[in-house]
Amino acid sequence: MRVVSSLLVAAAAASAYTTNSQLRLAYHGDDGMMVSWNTFQHVEKPIVHWGLSQYRLTNIATSNVSITYPTSTTYNNHVLISGLQPGTTYFYKPTPLMKNESAEVFNFTTSRRAGDNTPFSVAVVVDLGTMGSKGLTTSAGAPVASTNVLQPGERNTIEALESSLADFDFLWHAGDIAYADYWLKEEIQGFLPNTTIEEGAAVYESILNEFYDEMMAITASKPYMVGPGNHEANCDNGGTKDKAHHITYDSSICMEGQTNFTGFKNHFRMPSDVSGGTGNFWYSFDHGMVHFVQLDTETDLGHGFIGPVEDGGSEDFFGVEPVNATMNAQTTWLEADLAAVDRSKTPWVVVAGHRPLYLSDSGAICPECKDVFEPLLTKYKVDLVLSGHSHVYERQAPLAEGKEDPNGLENPTFPWYITNGAAGHYDGLDELPSSRQPYSRFALDTFNATYGWSRLTFHNCTHLTHEFVASKNGTVLDSATLFKARTCDQGSKHY
Ligand SMILES: *[C@@H]1O[C@H](CO)[C@@H](O)[C@H](O)[C@H]1NC(C)=O
Ligand SMILES: *[C@@H]1O[C@H](CO)[C@@H](O)[C@H](O)[C@H]1NC(C)=O
Ligand SMILES: *[C@@H]1O[C@H](CO)[C@@H](O)[C@H](O)[C@H]1NC(C)=O
Ligand SMILES: *[C@@H]1O[C@H](CO)[C@@H](O)[C@H](O)[C@H]1NC(C)=O
Ligand SMILES: *[C@@H]1O[C@H](CO)[C@@H](O)[C@H](O)[C@H]1NC(C)=O
Ligand SMILES: *[C@@H]1O[C@H](CO)[C@@H](O)[C@H](O)[C@H]1NC(C)=O
Ligand SMILES: *[C@@H]1O[C@H](CO)[C@@H](O)[C@H](O)[C@H]1NC(C)=O
Ligand SMILES: *[C@@H]1O[C@H](CO)[C@@H](O)[C@H](O)[C@H]1NC(C)=O
Ligand SMILES: *[C@@H]1O[C@H](CO)[C@@H](O)[C@H](O)[C@H]1NC(C)=O
Ligand SMILES: [Fe+2]
Repeated sequence: MRVVSSLLVAAAAASAYTTNSQLRLAYHGDDGMMVSWNTFQHVEKPIVHWGLSQYRLTNIATSNVSITYPTSTTYNNHVLISGLQPGTTYFYKPTPLMKNESAEVFNFTTSRRAGDNTPFSVAVVVDLGTMGSKGLTTSAGAPVASTNVLQPGERNTIEALESSLADFDFLWHAGDIAYADYWLKEEIQGFLPNTTIEEGAAVYESILNEFYDEMMAITASKPYMVGPGNHEANCDNGGTKDKAHHITYDSSICMEGQTNFTGFKNHFRMPSDVSGGTGNFWYSFDHGMVHFVQLDTETDLGHGFIGPVEDGGSEDFFGVEPVNATMNAQTTWLEADLAAVDRSKTPWVVVAGHRPLYLSDSGAICPECKDVFEPLLTKYKVDLVLSGHSHVYERQAPLAEGKEDPNGLENPTFPWYITNGAAGHYDGLDELPSSRQPYSRFALDTFNATYGWSRLTFHNCTHLTHEFVASKNGTVLDSATLFKARTCDQGSKHY
């Protein structure tokens, strides 16, 4: 097994590892839906048949976007369906799909019109890895604590989200998607037996395929809105040590295709074109009474700051350059985007970025991100800021420049901060320092050994509830409601 040509390995990976079409959706304005899926072959003209009845898929949307990249075993097909009605359920069927799915009819529901004040919920995860034999399961390599693996029969976060499909409109995943770059750590720790460094690229892609396969149970019917995390940037987890053999790996071992966010750029088509953002890196969208903003904490901080994973940044991942050549493109966009929000239509503004601006685990904070983003989040009275990166759950207070809002959750002026990086991946949860920050309100870490996801419920224009839902049993382990004293626009309606 040690000397295998990478071509052979790629072919084996393709047939052995990819069993479904990795169907995933993304909102594209309130009249569009992006349908993305993977095939082993290039598709000249990817097609989506769609309609209001599952028996009459009389409409056709097509594209010429069927793209791959070096080391990938699949092609990513992207088709935009436009001209849809907001808040409406449609049935659809992409073509071609993997054989055993080709008879299935799928469905999605378009985004709620901005100003629609019907209550709804959203599922949020950050740091969600592949589950099962290539990621988080009931065993792990030797250094991984026994509390950081799943108990036999324990329901994981992907399964939990699947069983809660009726509870949320869409899934938001703010970076660290699949953890394919963990192949090296998993191999060094003896968790992936009989793999070699030479096979790395194939293993990396097999983990990605496995992840998108698993996620399809959710993402074929719920839009999957994503942002960049550090684990999308390269193939070596930003430096991995093989202590037994005294080798320190760096991203120079990464093949073309496994650096520079290449997989992330190929797999998704986030709605930045209709929100003035950049690629899958930063963008915004409205959904009912909420304006949602995805930020990029990894690159393009501007103002003389270099993003952590860019060349010259604190994590200097080989080959990562700014994704937008315009100086300060992200913060200029953020300010314009926040300034343009019509709070009478979308009273709530919720922002997610991969790295936290506040956390008791200070090592996970991105100080440069805080410098560039916080003044804008405070100035434009963002209601809630979500992050992950540290594999813990910590709910913080409403904060500005380190100071707690004197009102707490009862009509604060400052943004409320919550970090939830506890969805689960190969080596589990992190440890918070025993002495937490005064602004920390509730925390779960490796000692509590509980994986979970965040459920945000927008009740009306004044009340928003955040819940930490334990994946294993669905129990809400933490719940907090933010109140904002404002008059709900009488003109806004339930559509
Ligand atoms: C398709 O077939 C493969 C191989 O038999 C199987 O592993 C996979 O679960 C099937 N997928 C679906 C969606 O039924
Ligand atoms: C794909 O379609 C677009 C617009 O329809 C066109 O501009 C572009 O040239 C096409 N690309 C290829 C590779 O055919
Ligand atoms: C839409 O798809 C989901 C997931 O397969 C399914 O649970 C649901 O019943 C479908 N909805 C309709 C209206 O068919
Ligand atoms: C790993 O390779 C060895 C030697 O070829 C073989 O005996 C063993 O069964 C393999 N282990 C796994 C888990 O495949
Ligand atoms: C870079 O940002 C500008 C706005 O500052 C935007 O107009 C442009 O489309 C972005 N470039 C890319 C490649 O997305
Ligand atoms: C990385 O991606 C950017 C676009 O985001 C591109 O301009 C650059 O050439 C790429 N760098 C490498 C080393 O591939
Ligand atoms: C989780 O465990 C940590 C460390 O023992 C502790 O500080 C924290 O209060 C626990 N959280 C809950 C909700 O029990
Ligand atoms: C808004 O929702 C909260 C929570 O459900 C409820 O207590 C409150 O009365 C509602 N406010 C209005 C104006 O309906
Ligand atoms: C669900 O799991 C959590 C975390 O282990 C535990 O604290 C809670 O008691 C469980 N709830 C039920 C109803 O078993
Ligand atoms: Fe991260």
